Amino acid sequence: MNPSGGLRWHWRAWRSAALWSPTSAQIASWLAGVQPNSKKLLLLGPSAGWMLPSAWLLRFESIHAVDIDPFARWLFGWRHGAALKAAGVHWHYQTGDALAELPRLLVAHPQACVLLDNVLGQLRFHTPAWQEATLFTSLQLAEIKRLLKGREWGSVHDFLSGPAEGLLSGQDFPAAQSFVTTPATDHPVDVTWLAAVKPRGEWLDHLTDQVFPAGTPVQHIGWAFRAHYWHWLQAGWLQP
Ligand SMILES: C[S@@+](CC[C@H](N)C(=O)[O-])C[C@H]1O[C@@H](n2cnc3c(N)ncnc32)[C@H](O)[C@@H]1O
Repeated sequence: MNPSGGLRWHWRAWRSAALWSPTSAQIASWLAGVQPNSKKLLLLGPSAGWMLPSAWLLRFESIHAVDIDPFARWLFGWRHGAALKAAGVHWHYQTGDALAELPRLLVAHPQACVLLDNVLGQLRFHTPAWQEATLFTSLQLAEIKRLLKGREWGSVHDFLSGPAEGLLSGQDFPAAQSFVTTPATDHPVDVTWLAAVKPRGEWLDHLTDQVFPAGTPVQHIGWAFRAHYWHWLQAGWLQP
């Protein structure tokens, strides 16, 4: 079973379109400010692109998407295919393990920039039974970053997630915040923006704090995954 995708994910994403729309709008607004030089995109783990704006995809001449979920390519076509076709964007959707195949994908697409689309925060759920999640995730991240050296690449991913009281009706959705990543401990991250949703209990660490090198501008985005279970997303883009 795919712990981070599959039919359950599609059903939830389809049903949650309204609940997720402020987050999708904030991702779209962040992406609008991402201006890659490359006209080719390697899109990793996009599922059906439930939270991706077609408008950003249209800036590319060609897109090669890869997701392990066999349903994703049909649903991606259903959601984005018409817009891509009308704009003359060539796209291909491969069903496969984008991370295991990353070295081969990068060789096959030497000019492409890379977007990891809400996939790195799920790494910990793919930890083999015989390994420990923190070690597995940090080794995977280190290898992915090594492979991506010299590329234009970006990622949107879960940072933390957990229970929250949520928003009162009529309360504004917390605005996305932009911080620059710092070498951890002596510069605590400002979380006042998240206080609006009143987090409670224990939150899950998605083990993604090492994704971006120090000094990367990172967008912090709230996501009401369910009314009372929120995710804190981080989004960043690196130029070589
Ligand atoms: C949380 S969903 C994100 C979906 C997407 N961002 C969207 O807007 O719908 C994570 C996706 O990553 C995919 N995934 C997880 N590990 C993967 C891997 N190693 N290679 C390719 N896809 C992967 C899952 O199948 C799933 O579709």
